[in-house]
Formats: sequence, structure tokens, C-alpha cells
Amino acid sequence: MGGAGLGLAAGCAVLTCAIAAVMVGHRVRSRRRWGRAVALVREFEEACATSVGRLRQVVDAMAVEMHAGLASEGGSKLRMLLTFIDNLPDGSEEGTYYALDLGGTNFRVLQIQFSGKGSMILTHRVQRQPISQELMTGTREELFNFIASTLKQFVQREDDGIDQIPDVRKDLGFTFSFPVRQLSVSSGVLIKWTKGFSIKDAVGKDVAQCLNEAMLKTGLNMRVVALVNDTVGTLALGHYYDVDTVAAVIIGTGTNACYLERTDAIIKYQGLLTNSGDMVVNMEWGNFWSSHLPRTPYDISLDDESPNRNDQGFEKMISGMYLGEIVRRVLHRMAEESDIFPDAVQNLSVPFVLRTPLMAAMHEDDSPDLREVGRILEDHLKISGVSLKARRLLVRVCDIVTRRAARLAAAGIVGILKKIGRDGSAGVASGRTKGKPRRTVVAVEGGLYVGYSMFRDYLNEAVAEILGEEVAPYVCLRVCEDGSGTGAAVLAAAYSSNR
Ligand code: BGC
Repeated sequence: MGGAGLGLAAGCAVLTCAIAAVMVGHRVRSRRRWGRAVALVREFEEACATSVGRLRQVVDAMAVEMHAGLASEGGSKLRMLLTFIDNLPDGSEEGTYYALDLGGTNFRVLQIQFSGKGSMILTHRVQRQPISQELMTGTREELFNFIASTLKQFVQREDDGIDQIPDVRKDLGFTFSFPVRQLSVSSGVLIKWTKGFSIKDAVGKDVAQCLNEAMLKTGLNMRVVALVNDTVGTLALGHYYDVDTVAAVIIGTGTNACYLERTDAIIKYQGLLTNSGDMVVNMEWGNFWSSHLPRTPYDISLDDESPNRNDQGFEKMISGMYLGEIVRRVLHRMAEESDIFPDAVQNLSVPFVLRTPLMAAMHEDDSPDLREVGRILEDHLKISGVSLKARRLLVRVCDIVTRRAARLAAAGIVGILKKIGRDGSAGVASGRTKGKPRRTVVAVEGGLYVGYSMFRDYLNEAVAEILGEEVAPYVCLRVCEDGSGTGAAVLAAAYSSNR
């Protein structure tokens, strides 16, 4: 080989070495970035840990805060609002009643005919109407006029005279799923908006009166006879079907719970008298807070950037409005600090771009190659080329967020049971018949629990884990579909002056 040949061979060897070095360097960097993504998920998982020990601390905190909220106005972040509902329906309600259910991005109008015997509903007619973003943030007059005119059209269409005497005023149950200070069963002022609503001139106003005035203006002969929270509607319907129902929980866009309390335990309203000695209390548990809640930097930044900072802390860890957004925040950080989601930093930087139903669909993708995850990333987030192992990591993030939410909601439920002596901790002395715990039913409604089976399984499992095997069989969580709408109609029947 001549000198030129030798030089060429040496040159090739150097080039090969250089390419190999670049490839190795690339692989090392890529492994390091993958390692960073995995480490972020691991840190997040640790910060979200909900051991049964920690859940029991949340249970205790919930029960303590309930006592504090009942003892004095402002005594706790739990408002523990009176509802003036002292008797729950029992299945004997009779006649045709209307309900209006406002609490999210849709509102519904319903007409329901109750048989009067054995918890039987004869007819159930519903119309769903979306609420535009403009109405959610406009004026109260616009909102209530729109609702009243939709209701009028519905009544004109559905009111075929069944059980109704013409020209007699119809009674309406109004489900208004926001914090309200009730003045009576049929009136109450809005304390604040949640779930993205912000109609400033409605705060401090009697929302039942606003609706009554709007109905009068449209020429509708109808009156609100029961103004209720969606949890209260759900408890009412749960009790209509099963008299062992003592509490209700909503886990949907927002979250909240209510339960039947003894009036003598409502210390902040001493001397409150009801026929039954009980009253339903609307906890507004979305605003619950405790240092035992496992809070991460992602929760803190979500709260900081929300329009209601330092408010609805429990809701921001649990409900459908926020779970997708927590996942998005984690994925965004992973995209920034690793290359597992190619070119996705920009797309993942948009708040609320990942809605909870999409997150749930990715979580529940059981195809071996996570095809649905890939499709959602491409179609909804415009992110393509995500490897299978990165998609698996993403599903793990969804799992961490959902599991924490479901387990915290479970702790909240057991907190209520503890407060009313149905968690078995008070022993034979309380809530037991002949040494056995009493059967206790909790009615549950809302898309996360009803429509997201992994969420529901995690929640049910955690309730059983916290209660233990002796007590858990006596506690039944029962889906109460459409409790908020039908429940308001049955309360209208129970509280109607025509009864
Ligand atoms: C509201 C509650 C409501 C819950 C579920 C919360 O944001 O404050 O009043 O019950 O959402 O809809």
C-alpha cells in the first residue's frame, strides 16, 4: 500500500471513530433525558402518595373541620351550609313537577311524574341546553332570561295536561350547584361562583328570586319551591329509593358533599328547630383544606394561575375540571426536560388543552400498543412520533393523578361517616344495631365516578381499605344517576304547597 492509501485508511478510521463517538454521545444524552423523564414521574408519584395512614389523617381532618364549620360561621374552610331540608322524600311523592338543573356548561330542564306509591316514576322528560361562555361570564339578567325562555318553550311543548289544572301555578325544583347561603327551602343568596362561572352581578343575590322574576317576565306561571344544591338533589333521590341513604357526593366538573345532620349538632344556629330534628347540611367540601393533603408543585402552580387562588383546594385535586390540567402540567415539564414528546413543549404549554375526558380515555386505553393514546396525542394535542415507552410513561402520569383524586375523595367520604358515627370507630355505642354496624348508603353522582371506571374502582377500593373488613360491608356507595335533576323535582313534590 502506498503512502496515499495509508493516509486514506487512517482518515476513514478517524471518521468512523468520530461517527461512533457522536452516536454513543447521542445515545448517552438520550438515555440521560429518558432517565430525567422517568425521574420526574417518580418524584411526582412520591409526592402524590396516599398511603392508608395518610388517608386516615385526611379522614380525621375532614371530621374535625366539619365540627369546626358547624360550631361557628367562618370557623372552617368547610362552610357547612344550612339547606332547610329537614325531611327527605320517601317514595310517597305524587304528581307532575318540573326541575331546572344549572351547575356546569349545560343546564337541563325536566318534567317528572311521580306515582305516589313505592318510589315509582311514571314519566321523565328532559331537555339539555348548552350554556355559552358568554352567558357564563355575562350578566345575571342575560343568564336568567335565557334559562326562563328555554324553560317556557319546554313547558309549552311538554305540558300536555297530565295531572295539571290549567292556570294553576306549577312548582319548580331549582338545582343551582354553587355555594349558596339559603334563607329558606326556596330562597338563597349566591356566595361565590366556582367551575369557571363568573357573573359578577349575581354574587350576593337571591338566585331563586332572579329566576322567579325572569319566569314572570316571560309569562310563565311557575315558582321555585325548592332551591337546592346538586348534592342535596342527589341525597333526596337516593333517599327516595333507599331510606338508608344519609349522605351524597358529587364528583364531576366540581366536587361536593352533603349529609343529614342532627340540628343540635349545628351549634352555630342554636335553637334551630325542625320537625324531624335533622337537617341536610351542604358541606361545600370542594373548599376543604388540610396540611395532610399530598400537594405537589404542579398543584401549587395550577392554583396560583387560577382565577380563584387559595380557594377550592380539595376540588382542584379531585374534580373533572382539573385532573386533565394537572396531567398536562406534568407532561409539559417532561417535554421541557427530556425529548420524549418530540416538539411538544409549545403544544403542551396551553392551559386546559388536555381535558379530563381525554385524559381518562388515554388512561383506560388497554390496547397493547396504546393506539388510543397515540391517536389522542395526534388529533387533540397535535403531537406525533411519541414512542411506545413514552406513551406508557404518560399513562402512568394519568394513573397517579386519578388514583390520588379517587383516594382523597374516598377519605372525604369516610370523614363524613366518622362525623356521624357510621365508620365503626365509635364501637358498639354509636351507629350500631344489636352489635352490628348499621347499613349506610352514600349516593354518588358525577361523570368521574359514574363514567370513569378506573376512578370508581380506586375510590371504592380506598373506602374499603380505610374502613376495614369489619365495617366496609355495611357501607354502600350507590350511583344515583341524574340525582341533581330528578332529585330537585322530587324535592319540589315534597315541599310543594299543592301537596
Ligand atoms: C360547587 C358545589 C357543587 C359542586 C358539584 C362545586 O364547585 O361549589 O356547590 O355541589 O361543584 O357540582
